[in-house]
Order: sequence, then C-alpha cells, then structure tokens
Amino acid sequence: MLDGKDGAGAQKAMEILVALGDIYGAEKMVPIKSAQVSGVSYKNMGEAGLAFLKDWAESGARVRVPAMLNPAGIDIETWSLLGISKGFAEKQIELIEAYKSMGIASTCTCTPYLTENVPDFGDHLAWSESSAVSYANSALGARTNREGGPSALAAAIAGVTPSYGLHLDENRKARSVVDVDCELLDLADYGALGYIIGKKVGNGIPYFHFRKNKKIDADAIKTLGATMAAAGSVALFHVHDYTPEAVRRNMLEKGSERITVKDVSEGYEAMNSKAVDIDFVAIGCPHASLQELEEIATMLKRKKVKAETWITTARKIKKAAARTVKEIEKSGAHVVADTCMIVAPIEELGFKTMATNAGKAACYAPSHCGLSVRFGPLEKCIEAAVTGKWN
Ligand code: F3S
Repeated sequence: MLDGKDGAGAQKAMEILVALGDIYGAEKMVPIKSAQVSGVSYKNMGEAGLAFLKDWAESGARVRVPAMLNPAGIDIETWSLLGISKGFAEKQIELIEAYKSMGIASTCTCTPYLTENVPDFGDHLAWSESSAVSYANSALGARTNREGGPSALAAAIAGVTPSYGLHLDENRKARSVVDVDCELLDLADYGALGYIIGKKVGNGIPYFHFRKNKKIDADAIKTLGATMAAAGSVALFHVHDYTPEAVRRNMLEKGSERITVKDVSEGYEAMNSKAVDIDFVAIGCPHASLQELEEIATMLKRKKVKAETWITTARKIKKAAARTVKEIEKSGAHVVADTCMIVAPIEELGFKTMATNAGKAACYAPSHCGLSVRFGPLEKCIEAAVTGKWN
C-alpha cells in the first residue's frame, strides 16, 4: 500500500498511519475490526475540510473495514424544520456524500455501540469520537486510541492502525483509584463526577469504586466517560467489579494515587452559569438510548414546551422508538437524529442559554456554540423546557 500498488488513495492512508506509528514508536500495524470517523460537521470542517475529503475520495480511496460517521451538522430529514439554513444543509450533504463515496456508512451517531456496531472484547478499532472511544475501551473492553478524523479515515481505508497506546496491554492499567463515597442519583451526577475526575487525571486512566451505588448502568457509563473525555482527555477507565477488564484481571498499578469524592457539587458549580431565562434545552449527549427516550416521554406527558427543545439520538434508535418519539413530539420537543447541540450550527439559530443534563455538552457549549449553560438533572431540564426558566 505504501508503495502505491493499491492506488493513490490507499497510499495516502498508509503514509499517514506510518507517520503516526513512527511518532509513537509503534513496532507494527494491527488489523482493525471497524473505524468510526469524526470530522463530519460542515461547521467544523468548512470548505478546506470538504475539499480535502473530496480529493481523497477522487484518488480512489475506499474503506476495507466497516466504517461509520460521527454526527453531522444537520438532521438529514428535518433540518429545515429546525431552522438550519439551506446553504449550510447543502454543504453538509455534499460532505456526507464524499464520505459515502469512500464506502463509509452515514450513521451520523456518536453511539454506534448502541445500534450499528458493538465491538467484542479485545477487538482492535480506530474510533475517533472521544465518548465512543471511552465507551468501547471501558464498557466493552475493545481497544482503540483516541483517533483524529483523518487517522480514523486512514485506518478505515488501510484496514490497520499502528499498534501503540491503548492497543497494548501494558498501557491499559489505571494509576488513579477513585473512591466515590456518595450516592449518584441522576445521569447528571455522573456528568458532574466526570468533570471533577477529568480535570484531575487529564489523560490518565481512573479506576472507580462506587461505594454507595450498587448498580451502574450503561447510560451512566456513557455519560461518565463522555464528560471525562471532554473535561480532561480520558480514553479508558475501569469500574471495579463492572467493566470487563476489571472483572477479568487486576487493572490497577501498584502505588496508584487515591482520590476520594464525597460529593459532586464542585462539578455542578463549574459547569453552571447564573442564567435564569432558558431558550434552548438539549438532551442526548452522547446520543440518547431507548431507555432515556422512554424516561423523557414519561416526564413530558401532557406538557407543552416553551423553550426550543432537542432530544438528540441515533437515527436507528429514533426509528426503533417511533411510538415514544411521537409521545415526546406531542409536547413540541423535537427528537433530532444525525446531529447534536454541539456540532449543529447553533449560532445560526440565535439561542442564548442552553439547559442540559449532559456533562459533555455543558463543557463544550460555551466555547463551541457561544451559549451560556445551565446544567442539572433531567427533571430540572424538562421543567426548564416547559417554563423557559431555570428555577
Ligand atoms: Fe455526541 Fe455531540 Fe455529545 S457528538 S457526545 S452528542 S457533543
């Protein structure tokens, strides 16, 4: 491939991977089972990104393994209803088409592990969405570094990735033990905890002991991982007696530092502004699961929303939950697929303050979308959607 025998597209992919492998001292390439490619929203990619992709596609690049896209800047079916401009939507569709021409599935979700592609324990992957990387490594015991969009695309085209970092046993052990000594009652609590630990450990690997929560579910893991990836750059964590590697063997380095968390209010304080008027409510970061949609539908029953309200989810989940979606939309809220509150061109829509129960969205909205944020439990966000106020 490097010599160009498989065409210019594959050659370019292999050049990128070899350069990466050299930088990180990889001894070999490892075959991957799938790739998940970020760099999909036209808001982030712009004309230069679009030209780069079209050029690569025109050089004959085609993927060799199953490959999926991260969220784009629009809901492909309802963008005009949501107020997105035609100019943006056309550019966004052009960008998705460039990916599709290389054989990448236009799944446009950050939770492919809920529907499209559930990696097995030990699978090597090249995924780039930070929350999906965290989930694949931590909840499923698969192995992926936190790829950039171009390196994930290169790996999809070449079918391999350089073997370094989290692909290797010796780099997957934790060096920080986190004792969570308070009960977490809501997904937002896991976001607040994720903020505190992400800031503390940076790109480290924390090992959690949940002393008061006996039952941790997949939604809690996805929220915790997403927020740690945003507040720091955590790509792998373990939960004692729960995540697959921690169940199989000792994943804690000797002499690890100890962190005790007695309450998570510091996380709430750090991610909250003092705004009272709410004009935008966004739930579903990472994209909402079926269970989350059902909970939201129950809370919105017989209510009408005042603030613009987006519940973001994967298109496959939206289809599978058609009846629940209908219930939610009776309130005036939108169940939005293919995109999210951070990668959509929210600036075009003129919102000022977003309420959310998602730690990652709360971390990114001020810098990526120019929004003030109110961050709190789902029930409070639903109340804000209905009243337009944060009380
Ligand atoms: Fe997914 Fe967007 Fe959040 S990509 S993790 S919903 S910022």
